[in-house]
Amino acid sequence: MDYEAYYRKSDRDGFTAYYQSIAEASPADPQATARTRDAEGTIPGEARDKLFNVAAEIKNTFHELGSPLPPLLEGCTVVDLCCGSGRDTYLAAQLVGPNGKVIGVEPNAERLAVAEKYLDKEIKQFSYDASNVELRQGVPEDLSFIPSASADVVISNCTFNLSPDKGAYLREVKRILKPEGEFYFTDVFTDRRIPQAVSDDAKAVATRLGGALFVEDFRRIAQQNGFYDPRYVMTWKTPLTDEEQALFPGIAFATITSRLINSELTCDHCEDYGEEVVYDGSLPDYPDFFLFDKDIKFPANQSCHVCDNVSVLGLGGSRYAKVITVSGNRDVHYGDIHGDHVIKTAPDFSGVVDEDDQPIQVSCC
Ligand SMILES: C[S@@+](CC[C@H](N)C(=O)[O-])C[C@H]1O[C@@H](n2cnc3c(N)ncnc32)[C@H](O)[C@@H]1O
Repeated sequence: MDYEAYYRKSDRDGFTAYYQSIAEASPADPQATARTRDAEGTIPGEARDKLFNVAAEIKNTFHELGSPLPPLLEGCTVVDLCCGSGRDTYLAAQLVGPNGKVIGVEPNAERLAVAEKYLDKEIKQFSYDASNVELRQGVPEDLSFIPSASADVVISNCTFNLSPDKGAYLREVKRILKPEGEFYFTDVFTDRRIPQAVSDDAKAVATRLGGALFVEDFRRIAQQNGFYDPRYVMTWKTPLTDEEQALFPGIAFATITSRLINSELTCDHCEDYGEEVVYDGSLPDYPDFFLFDKDIKFPANQSCHVCDNVSVLGLGGSRYAKVITVSGNRDVHYGDIHGDHVIKTAPDFSGVVDEDDQPIQVSCC
């Protein structure tokens, strides 16, 4: 597939018109009806004051869901996919510091030009001696200008749903990430599959809704591409106008910040080797707990029994090893961490699952 041609066409057929329609409907605040309503509320605390250093034009041309900026970026190489006019790129440039680097990739030349226009000014504003930002015109599905295993973190804000080839998108992310690197991104997902005719429609895709994946399909594509254990860190209801909801009857949309760790050590199931983690409480935004995902918080300075997939966060190459210590190893396997549902491991299990004891159900799950 000619990805660049696709992006040019979808820009022409949907994207630009969508932004114009928003601006016309709400001239005083063009972003008010986009998916951005609480975008600033999603900026992590440590990045919020850094917004003052970002040029007004960049902030005013920012679109979408919020800033997927995970902790511990200092010194990292970060790639921001479809960076638009560069708001998150310039926030990340401050978080990685002068010894880190951010590569902003954007398919649309006009939006990229806004980011480029302020490059020198921004670097001066951050008081850096040399630029730590590189801006490239390109598409997420073909990042051949970025070497393999060179990025610590890849971020993207509301671009995955727009991708015409989500498998290629994740393959490229996986390729450029270092071992134990992290893809941390915010996007729109659904509770069921959108009919194909709708997701093929450029205008529906341009609303950032038509291309949204059923969240279980996302999990499958992630796993097929080597991200075996995707985690959902934060979820909130995607704001939709009545008109938009009418286009998608019965479909619920959620905005989700996800964490995909590039680790060969993870598998598609939570298995128990008796490992424990301790978070040291040193992250400024998380003095009391570490937010691993929407269901799991590790209290500071307390030992927590975790599955093997979670323990990779605190292992060797992961940057989280600075704040998370793992004890234990893989010598002894204790099975499914939740208790196995096929071969029961509960203490009173007699060794046979008697089919007569199973309730008759009118559904399977
Ligand atoms: C929803 S915006 C988000 C922009 C940016 N991440 C930000 O925070 O402002 C998506 C960006 O990706 C580009 N893009 C992604 N998919 C696209 C598509 N299918 N057609 C046109 N442009 C697309 C747009 O140029 C735009 O800058």
